[in-house]
Amino acid sequence: MAKKSIISYGRQWKDDDDIKEVIKVLKSDWLTQGPKVEEFEKAVAKYCGVKYGVAVSSGTAALHSAYIVAGIKSGDEIITTPLTFAATANMMVFCGAKPIFVDIQENTLNIDPVEIKKKITKKTKAIVSVDFAGHPCDYDEILKIAKKYNLLVIDDACHALGAEYKNKRIGSFSDMTILSFHPVKHITTGEGGMVLTNNKDFYEKLKVFRHHGIVKKSENDKWYYEIENPGFNYRITDFQCALGLSQLKKINKFIKRRRDIVAEYNKAFKNIKEIIIPVEKKYVKSSWHIYPIQIKRIDRKRIFDDLQKEGIGCQVHYMPLHLHPFYKKKFGYKKGDFPIAERYYERAITLPLFPKMTGKNIKKVIKKIINNLK
Ligand SMILES: Cc1ncc(COP(=O)(O)O)c(C=O)c1O
Repeated sequence: MAKKSIISYGRQWKDDDDIKEVIKVLKSDWLTQGPKVEEFEKAVAKYCGVKYGVAVSSGTAALHSAYIVAGIKSGDEIITTPLTFAATANMMVFCGAKPIFVDIQENTLNIDPVEIKKKITKKTKAIVSVDFAGHPCDYDEILKIAKKYNLLVIDDACHALGAEYKNKRIGSFSDMTILSFHPVKHITTGEGGMVLTNNKDFYEKLKVFRHHGIVKKSENDKWYYEIENPGFNYRITDFQCALGLSQLKKINKFIKRRRDIVAEYNKAFKNIKEIIIPVEKKYVKSSWHIYPIQIKRIDRKRIFDDLQKEGIGCQVHYMPLHLHPFYKKKFGYKKGDFPIAERYYERAITLPLFPKMTGKNIKKVIKKIINNLK
């Protein structure tokens, strides 16, 4: 039986030129930490307008590394959004910290600065913002709060490489910015991630943490090193970074295509009363990692299941983190705590969005959604 084709919610776009770059490295002497790693770090940092980049094995590893070098530890409270991928908060828990969720803005679906202020205590160490779907958070407000209360800001920008806030690319607003290069993201290295920062101390510490905590004390004693603080093996390979470099050359094309597809979706859905389309504020340029719509008045599950049956690989991003059993049991969160995030979740469906989507794919998704609303 022929396999039914599915339009997935997100996927990579890799061509022969990408593959050639990877093969070149595979034929060289370098497999792990070679020259392509630093080249990739510098290229991403330059693109984002920030001084330093440290490439690691995943976005999750980047979050963990950033939290550790920020000094996040047992007893600390970190303010973040419940509407994010689990890794944002899971890594806080691994550092011994408590994620303090606050509700989101109804329009941007990002953390609400008004709610942040209400949750600051003596234990608060940092704000972790998440640029949901590729739409930057309100950084003027977040940075104002951080400055007033002396808090670090870590931007989980795994959705937002290439996005702009007031004509400036994501990457330099916060103390550290986190990227992921998973295949559904804007560019891919297979698995991979990066921490961006303008802070030299964080940069040095991140490189040590990525490599077991090994500190070379002298160039003369080639074999000698010391561990001052234990780290992980969070290294990325040279051939992954060769793929990343090749992909980075195409990022503007990829983002343009994402924006064009979103414009087509918006045009088709904006006057349908059962659908709420995602918002893009005038002062941002979203890089549109995902396209989440909200379905009003109709059973979302029925629509979701029908779309899946028809080969539309939709998704739901995300069940708010405070509703997961772990976060309920460990920290006492419960249904009703964050009504805006919860109402969004009850209505949300993420539609397929990736640069290689064809015009035919887009028309099929639009048609199936509209037909299923009837
Ligand atoms: C907001 C957010 N943070 C962190 C991550 C983790 O990235 P990775 O899958 O590269 O570990 C993801 C991945 O989907 C994400 O969407």
